[in-house]
Amino acid sequence: MNQEKIIEFLKAKTDYASGEEISHRLGISRQALWKHIQDLKSSGYDIQAVPHLGYRLAGVPDRLFPSEVAAGLATEYIGKKIYYFDEVSSTMDNAFRLGTEGAPDGTLVIAEGQSKGRGRLGREWSSPKYKGIYASVILRPKIAPQQAPICTLLAAVSISAAIRSLTRLEVQIKWPNDILLHNKKVGGILTELNAEMDAIRFIVIGMGLNVNNDKKTLVAQAASLKEYTKDAVSRVELLQEIARTLEEGYLVFQKEGGDSILERWRAYNSTLGKRVKVVSHKEHIEAEAVDIDSDGGLIIRKDSGVMQKITAGDIVHCH
Ligand code: BTN
Repeated sequence: MNQEKIIEFLKAKTDYASGEEISHRLGISRQALWKHIQDLKSSGYDIQAVPHLGYRLAGVPDRLFPSEVAAGLATEYIGKKIYYFDEVSSTMDNAFRLGTEGAPDGTLVIAEGQSKGRGRLGREWSSPKYKGIYASVILRPKIAPQQAPICTLLAAVSISAAIRSLTRLEVQIKWPNDILLHNKKVGGILTELNAEMDAIRFIVIGMGLNVNNDKKTLVAQAASLKEYTKDAVSRVELLQEIARTLEEGYLVFQKEGGDSILERWRAYNSTLGKRVKVVSHKEHIEAEAVDIDSDGGLIIRKDSGVMQKITAGDIVHCH
């Protein structure tokens, strides 16, 4: 806590702050201050110390430290409680466990890297350290379990809006919730549910984004944001913006239902109107993607003219 206060104090200063001033303001001894400064330096904070002048913050590390994420977080509850890990197997497991233990609505689990990142349909999610955003949010919406897929669409819409406003990159959503940039995947969402027959206990929404990955480290079908922005993208700012847009949409969803989420999804999607190949364990069909329905299913029109709703699996865009 004291370390966060020291950083907050130094950030507010444009000039050097003397050791005496800081320790006096924070009510700690000069020795304790010195020790904290050493610890902060080893966490990557560039703190310059000049005799007779004091300390100056010359740089913050590119880390998703809770103190950095929390500073400037414009939300009321998403991210108000943050669990941070340098590396975990999967943030989904930590979040699910925390959910069963009663973690509050909006609890955020962040990892800098994952050794067993999970994707949809049993796939793996490559999660190299310090390159992407790997986060799971625990939500406790008062909705029926059948409406849970809307939360996934909501996450896709919120992430897209956040990326668009921060980077100006026109990402699009491929059904159900792949985030695409120039037809390559930059992000994905995995939702896990803990529910009774008629009520949701909690939902864990896992978000994976390729942010500052170098092109050569990615598979051919994947891209990162940095490939298309000149400079590295601030993962802290992006995560803050995602939390903000997610909370905004979540409040609208709980108040007014899913219609406006579906509208936003339609505005960002790149699937509707396309010819798609549906790949599920049951069948392989080619058809035209027509719409999504109120629970997020994809409505397709087969060549015979028959309409069908797809609720699970994956699709491939044909053109
Ligand atoms: C997909 O297949 O498109 C979904 C990918 C979801 C990846 C994220 S990263 C954070 C969270 N932890 C995981 O293990 N998976 C999700």
